Amino acid sequence: PAPGLIDRFGRRVNYLRISITDRCDLRCVYCMSEDMDFLPRAQILTLEEIHAIAATFVDLGVDKIRITGGEPLVRKGALDLLRRLGRLDGLRELVLTTNGMRLAQSVAELKDCGVRRINISLDSLRPERFRALTRVGDLAMVLRGIDAAVAAGFERIKLNAVILKDRNHDEVADLVGFAVDKGIDICFIEEMPLGWVDGRDRLEGYYSSDAIRNDLEMHFSLLPTPETTGGPSRYFRIAGTDTRVGFISPHSHNFCGSCNRVRLTAEGRLLLCLGNEHSADLKRVVRAHPGDTEPLKRAIREALGRKPERHDFNLAGRPVILRHMNVTGG
Ligand code: GTP
Ligand code: 5AD
Ligand code: SF4
Repeated sequence: PAPGLIDRFGRRVNYLRISITDRCDLRCVYCMSEDMDFLPRAQILTLEEIHAIAATFVDLGVDKIRITGGEPLVRKGALDLLRRLGRLDGLRELVLTTNGMRLAQSVAELKDCGVRRINISLDSLRPERFRALTRVGDLAMVLRGIDAAVAAGFERIKLNAVILKDRNHDEVADLVGFAVDKGIDICFIEEMPLGWVDGRDRLEGYYSSDAIRNDLEMHFSLLPTPETTGGPSRYFRIAGTDTRVGFISPHSHNFCGSCNRVRLTAEGRLLLCLGNEHSADLKRVVRAHPGDTEPLKRAIREALGRKPERHDFNLAGRPVILRHMNVTGG
């Protein structure tokens, strides 16, 4: 077996998140500003370069890859890339995070490519509110995507809901009810301050995972479970159902101690922590040495030595991290 990638805090990195594009067909209020500039094409890794970097990570012991964006399904060739990644020897899990807008037409092919689990963003079940949170989204399209994914029989489907005080915090029980109906899982996420989004102070929208849990306990019985998907979520089972409710709580329950992941940004930066700027320029390495994996391996191992202990998220005022979420895909 591969020796694996271990950082200086003894954490083993086996999970690579790859943002294949910073572009998106939505403009979620917690993720982007109203008018965003996207990266010029030449600055983005080609699909070939992404494949080469991903294959090198698998050689180094990564066995789970999640494809993210922006919205991954807006990138031309995304499915071809997934198909090639699905064939990498040593990859145990190929998974996808999507906003669901273009999911209905892609589920069959995604399944065929070897994608086993899908995470779909869904912050509201009310059409006008969904529109307000995503600025341009169409709830009906996402619901069709969810239904198509359920019908296709993926191993596991998880909804992601970012909960903001006074915008959708009153919907948490409805969202869980929806997940129970569909027989799928749902995670509630505390908003992370990445980039300045329309000058909004994130503290105002803060709604803690414990508050959500209290709200849910009025309607459901939540049983703690040690089950994990290898991400940051803490899971509970909704008694009497197949649904698991997860909490991703960067502010209230720090999970950095068990961090097992790094990210490749759309422009080829290896980001060692979502909430820091420590990174390595893998695009430069892959472009300087096409077809040669040794320089990449060296760059990755060296970068691992600089993985920070934890994120530095601040909730009040101007965010410390100026990069927006869409370049890292969360
Ligand atoms: P699985 O556990 O494999 O289902 O995936 P996941 O929950 O890690 O991935 P997903 O793309 O669904 O992300 C859900 C949320 O978790 C997003 O808001 C991510 O930004 C957040 N997240 C994932 N990994 C990290 C991390 O290392 N640090 C922080 N702060 N947030 C993370
Ligand atoms: N804080 C927390 N989660 C976020 N996401 C996007 N932006 C943020 C943010 N600022 C979520 C999306 C998606 C997941 C990949 O990340 O809703 O479900
Ligand atoms: Fe697009 Fe996801 Fe950002 Fe929403 S959170 S704008 S769906 S990348």
